[in-house]
Amino acid sequence: MTNEAGVPRIAVVPGDGIGTEVVPEARRILETVGEFEFVDAEAGDAVNERVGTPLPQETREAVADADATLFGAVGDSAADVILPLREVVDSDVNVRPARAYPGVDAVQPDCDLVVLRENTEGVYAGHEQRLSDDLSTLTRVVTESASRRLAAFACEYCEEKGLDSFHVVHKANVMRETDGRFLDAVQSVAQERGFDAEPVLMDAMATHMSMHPQDYDVLVTPNLAGDVLSDQAAGLVGGLGLLPSANLGAENALFEPVHGTAPDIAGQGVANPVATVLSAAMLLDFLDRSETAARVREATESVLEDGRRTPDLGGSATTEEMAEAIRNRL
Ligand code: NAI
Ligand code: MG
Repeated sequence: MTNEAGVPRIAVVPGDGIGTEVVPEARRILETVGEFEFVDAEAGDAVNERVGTPLPQETREAVADADATLFGAVGDSAADVILPLREVVDSDVNVRPARAYPGVDAVQPDCDLVVLRENTEGVYAGHEQRLSDDLSTLTRVVTESASRRLAAFACEYCEEKGLDSFHVVHKANVMRETDGRFLDAVQSVAQERGFDAEPVLMDAMATHMSMHPQDYDVLVTPNLAGDVLSDQAAGLVGGLGLLPSANLGAENALFEPVHGTAPDIAGQGVANPVATVLSAAMLLDFLDRSETAARVREATESVLEDGRRTPDLGGSATTEEMAEAIRNRL
């Protein structure tokens, strides 16, 4: 919790690979725009090798006791770290905005959408079984309550953005029971609150979003569909180096880039820090520092627009140079 001095406490978990390169830069940007108490914590493959668990108890506690967490990425142990941490912050909803920035060479320069993804259940609920040498199964979990919470969040999100409708992504024609329940729950909450929840089949969405992303503002999705469609949206706007995300709970939250540890470029100092910097901006929003968050976004956008970019966006800037340029704008 916020300490006696009223200074927000932020747990910082860089993780593995490029997480250890981009998170310190995003942290420095937070230090530039405000006063925070930072608590460093470890997670992932490296700490697993040293102490035998990828998620030490101290890290769980640091995240639980913080006002918010800034997280990087972890490698092979991702499922053993990020899924439990989403539970620690009691996060129902994963917010993943995908926006094409002026000046960045994007497949779809008009793309500006956000994926609101159910964050606790679906096929990621972890109920998998090996039943024989030939057969493995997975139980998909969908609850009325989690679907309704996501829908309620979507309505509030739309209201804040001045929108009266959103799209709800599903495959209820095949998964009649689980996605049927999801779709019905989301549509009924939308109706109660005076919003229009327009259903779209998830496979059709993959095509239509690629060709006409400007037709979409807010996509409300089950867990797996949101994971896949947000990575697809990343491809439309210039790559994973640009996509931030928020795992929101009522009292606590965890902010992380959508990307992973990028083993192909880790250790070279060339990872794009923008996804993590924009995640830090979402963290500032969560702490009710929206003006500061807007300043961080504007600084980041203006650096991109001026042509300073890391190699993933066709530039030659290092992680440090890119982050320094953003700090200088602040
Ligand atoms: P990835 O996101 O790490 O990399 C995919 C591609 O995007 C690579 O070519 C990489 O170089 C590029 N890329 C990603 N972020 C970038 C950045 N900031 N700047 C420039 N280029 C960037 O996904 P991949 O390769 O599938 O997974 C690598 C590892 O990360 C795996 O061990 C996986 O389990 C883990 N992972 C962890 C996540 C998490 O901690 N939440 C999420 C996704 C993957
Ligand atoms: Mg993913």
